[in-house]
Amino acid sequence: MIRKYRIGNPIPTESVVTEIEITEGNIPFFTTDVEKKSLFLKLSESDKIWGLGETTRGMNKRGWIYISNNADDPVHTEDKRSLYASQNFFIVDGDDRRFGIYVDTPERVTFDMGYTRSSELVISFDDFDSDLYLVEGDSLKEIVRQFRKIIGKSYVPPRWAFGFGQCRWSYMSADEVREVADKYDEAGIPLDMIYLDIDYMERYKDFSVDDKSFPDFPEFVQEMKNRGIHLVPIIDAGVKIEEGYDVYEEGLSGDYFCKKENGENLVAAVWPGKVHFPDFLDEKAREWFGNKYKFLLDQGIDGFWNDMNEPAIFYTEDHLQEVFEQIEDYKGKNLDINSFFDFKGLVGSISNNSEDYKRFYHNYKGQKIRHDKVHNLYGYNMTRAAGEAFERLCPDKRVLMFSRSSFIGMHRYGGVWCGDNMSWWSHLLLNIQQMPALNMCGFLYSGADIGGFGADTTEDLLLRWTAFGIFTPLFRNHSAMGTRRQEVYRFEKTDSFRRLIELRYSLLPYLYSEFMKAVRDDEMLFKPLSFEYDDARSLEVEDQLLLGESLMLAPVYKQNATGRYVYLPEDMKMIRFRAYDDYDEEILQAGDHYVKAGLSEVLVFVKKGHVLPLAKPSKRTSGVNTAAGLSYICYEADPSGYELYTDDGVSRIME
Ligand code: GLC
Repeated sequence: MIRKYRIGNPIPTESVVTEIEITEGNIPFFTTDVEKKSLFLKLSESDKIWGLGETTRGMNKRGWIYISNNADDPVHTEDKRSLYASQNFFIVDGDDRRFGIYVDTPERVTFDMGYTRSSELVISFDDFDSDLYLVEGDSLKEIVRQFRKIIGKSYVPPRWAFGFGQCRWSYMSADEVREVADKYDEAGIPLDMIYLDIDYMERYKDFSVDDKSFPDFPEFVQEMKNRGIHLVPIIDAGVKIEEGYDVYEEGLSGDYFCKKENGENLVAAVWPGKVHFPDFLDEKAREWFGNKYKFLLDQGIDGFWNDMNEPAIFYTEDHLQEVFEQIEDYKGKNLDINSFFDFKGLVGSISNNSEDYKRFYHNYKGQKIRHDKVHNLYGYNMTRAAGEAFERLCPDKRVLMFSRSSFIGMHRYGGVWCGDNMSWWSHLLLNIQQMPALNMCGFLYSGADIGGFGADTTEDLLLRWTAFGIFTPLFRNHSAMGTRRQEVYRFEKTDSFRRLIELRYSLLPYLYSEFMKAVRDDEMLFKPLSFEYDDARSLEVEDQLLLGESLMLAPVYKQNATGRYVYLPEDMKMIRFRAYDDYDEEILQAGDHYVKAGLSEVLVFVKKGHVLPLAKPSKRTSGVNTAAGLSYICYEADPSGYELYTDDGVSRIME
């Protein structure tokens, strides 16, 4: 059962697609303090809190404080309160009550999950204008299902987007991209996608291609396609200010850019230097920007990733000017304890400064709204611009799309990657823990940069991360400029990487079936154990996941580990894969086990009465037959009981 409550006069987010009547009166379970602009909920000792999408810390969110304020912050340490997304849905799961709550407002919201006082959950608002959806149901899964129903079906990518993708900031030329493809082919490692980061563009101009380093682009796209490889270019939010550049000129003449109070277009800076930000909240601007993707679609491109759409701001022209003026005051002075730090702060605060988000406005549904009031909707609407355009421009075909910044609602138009993580073991664990919470909020096509984006990876970390990544729908190795090169063929254990990635291709019938069924039935693909088992131990497992109907995963995420402890809530069949066609099987009884898992091995646990179909892998997803010729690993089950989902992989049949 879902009830909708309203506080104040919220700015619509269009994240909920079902009309629900507003219930008058107090919100059950909560007390309201208008003065403090807060809702309070008493927590009992046993209450757990699941959800909140892409956030830091574990699966159970209790004990930390989170702020919905989409942030371009590449250092995801545990003390961070905001990452790239605002996904304000969570479930309070206690012995005597269980409900989900969706806080539907674009404004900044703070979720104090028992941080200030361990017995109290406090939701605080900047303005106190919000819709609230209270979702009750018999089980955690039922609560998620009901919530997902009202926010609309999750985005479905083409089937090839379940292949392996290689990215780097940046491959600088077509020849470098060819080399990556050649190396993968020479090493016999499957690959479906090579991503183009910002340097494929002409001086970082959206919807342009540098014709010196990427000459004859349509021919190049076709050449790669003939090899079965899709090129997936990045699109950034900011449009370079440059006379004669068509996107800039059209944006000006169509009045599509965000404006300052005085009506002038805001000037900010990102990769291209000075840019204007398209007003993605304005329907007209959204349609215009969406249509621009045609430039690349027409050249054979069929997938994109949207970036810097919090939006990330290096500086705004006005703020920079102010800083330069203020710096004058410090010239020739003996900078002491106070003035030195003030001076340092002045320059250090020019990027992603919260004051800058108050310097510009949107035209949202005919109203002028200051950016900070709708900040969390910006990336969502950039991706919506693309998604709506794809429906117009290629109505018969799915296009790959995922975004860095997001808000619930965006899950209908694209997936997400979890932004600029680091090559840290703790971020492999974070990746594991973020997946189910993303799924709860509708984001099924998701994943993190495998191997870590920032900092130097190591072979063992990359192996373990790849061994987990073979299960995430978005399976992409990506790394930052200046870090150690991370393409898997560069490492000694090339054979191990090949076997891991082949296993992914072999799992395709299962992964694709479970993904498509999860979309169809509003289910989660990844679940914490607590969503299916109610024994006390299952409620606390933070490093194992249920994947689809048949599997439990227990990834190894610690350096130098040769195995790990695994908790089994029921008897399961453990498969230790060395390769898709080389594995041991062992029935393990419910309880705790220490199990060995060498660096190149993958552990998979098949639940009783369930089936894991496996295909013969291929170098491309197109070569994997997911409908016939499958083998099955069964644990007291019959393969015929498994519902295999197959389709042509590109038609928009589910939407
Ligand atoms: C941002 C993105 C990252 C990309 C880089 C350059 O940091 O998050 O993935 O490689 O920009 O475009």
